[in-house]
Amino acid sequence: MIGNDALNVAIDAGENPYLLGPYAPVDEEIVAEDLEVVGEIPSDLEGLYVRNGPNPRFPAGGRYHWFDGDGMLHGLHLADGKATYRNKWVRTDGFAAEAADGRALWEGVAEPRGGNPDDGTRLRLKDTSNTDVVFHNGSLVTLWYLAGQPYKVDPFTLDTIGSDDWKGARDCMVSAHAKVDPRTKEFLFFDYGPTPPFMSYGVVSADGSLTHHTEISIPGARMPHDMAITENHSILMDLPLVVDPDSAARGRHRLEFLGETPARFGVIPRFGTDANVQWFEAEPCYIYHTINAWEEGDEIVMDVCRFRPPSSSSMDFRGPLAHILNYLRLDAYVHRYRFNLVTGRTTEGPIDDRNTEFPMINHRNLGQKNRYAYNVSISSDTVMYFDGLVKYDLEQGTDERYGFGAGRYGSEAPFAPRTGATAEDDGYLLSFVYDATTERSELLILDAQDLPAGPIGRVMIPRRIPNGFHACWVTADELETARVGAA
Ligand SMILES: [Fe+2]
Repeated sequence: MIGNDALNVAIDAGENPYLLGPYAPVDEEIVAEDLEVVGEIPSDLEGLYVRNGPNPRFPAGGRYHWFDGDGMLHGLHLADGKATYRNKWVRTDGFAAEAADGRALWEGVAEPRGGNPDDGTRLRLKDTSNTDVVFHNGSLVTLWYLAGQPYKVDPFTLDTIGSDDWKGARDCMVSAHAKVDPRTKEFLFFDYGPTPPFMSYGVVSADGSLTHHTEISIPGARMPHDMAITENHSILMDLPLVVDPDSAARGRHRLEFLGETPARFGVIPRFGTDANVQWFEAEPCYIYHTINAWEEGDEIVMDVCRFRPPSSSSMDFRGPLAHILNYLRLDAYVHRYRFNLVTGRTTEGPIDDRNTEFPMINHRNLGQKNRYAYNVSISSDTVMYFDGLVKYDLEQGTDERYGFGAGRYGSEAPFAPRTGATAEDDGYLLSFVYDATTERSELLILDAQDLPAGPIGRVMIPRRIPNGFHACWVTADELETARVGAA
């Protein structure tokens, strides 16, 4: 196991902590069919669990940071009680350029960017598409946290189809955490960058046409990460984690948290313009991920994982990457905002006092009131390790937990509805779990109505899956639309 002490030993020995243990990349694309299952794959669970994450194809020239790795998808397709695993890199323009040259051409976030090739990103960093994955208009769509091209990926083969230009209309990039409305199938997104306009917002229709795009006025370069939607509105974030202009002038991308500056949330009608945004102020904070939002009378309710900004002494990493390692430390708590559209007033407060993140809900409830949220609990051992799952009952104020066990770490756990389900929590939670003892990974299948009972099924995967970022569940019905669309 790679805890903080072991990481420091490795750093002292000149090794890069992001190339070790659970972070270490894999170098082969494989397909493994009819996988061994301990327990069972329920017959009413059919679809695709797919997770994105960084996995460098070539060794970096300078200091590698985990966020720099080329996007790689790991997919577990479940049907008829059987499971197939496959993994593929996302063939971005940057990936193709490096493959043609046989070496890394870009430096990452820990190095100056001035000598990097220009692939159209406003930060002059390689657009890796390594952060998020959603299903829209018959394809997977991979997204990048620094705002890049949306890449369409075949959900059956995980082959990259190409970047999506929305039938020639796209003149912007797209951040991670675009939302697909489960009712209208619209794709709602934001873009952001270091130069004006610092943010924009838009809507792509169910059939892939850009139907709305508007600039959003914010005071300067920010580092927004997520958004939220309701039936009629979207919520955008202007949080006081800002890009330091002095470092930007020197070709760096250093972030600064302004602890006295209010957080601001912009509520915009789905097809509204900049002039229609109603801004709500709140206590200073940072937020990586929203859980959900909905409309309730005059109010918009939004639940989030609210982040406590790290101090430089929050962990004991040393060496040249210490600052970024400390910044990776997740320290977030479930928190509720209410934005009153009539009075303009914000009310807010904590819902839980334990450190959980990477929230998931039943996607059917996205933008509508939900009762349950499913988060990963954050290990205190080291950075970005998830040591269990938490199911929140946000109406009752209760929770249920499942711990992965010693030396076992999971991934974001989407909710997969049982075939024919009507109740919000009638289904399963899925998570890739890495076992540091066996150096193997498995997919855990848990009953969302009884987390403490432990997994119903463990699908044994014949390889280690590196730690990664976001995942989604694609239902069998959605896969069918992809099959029909491709025919
Ligand atoms: Fe994220």
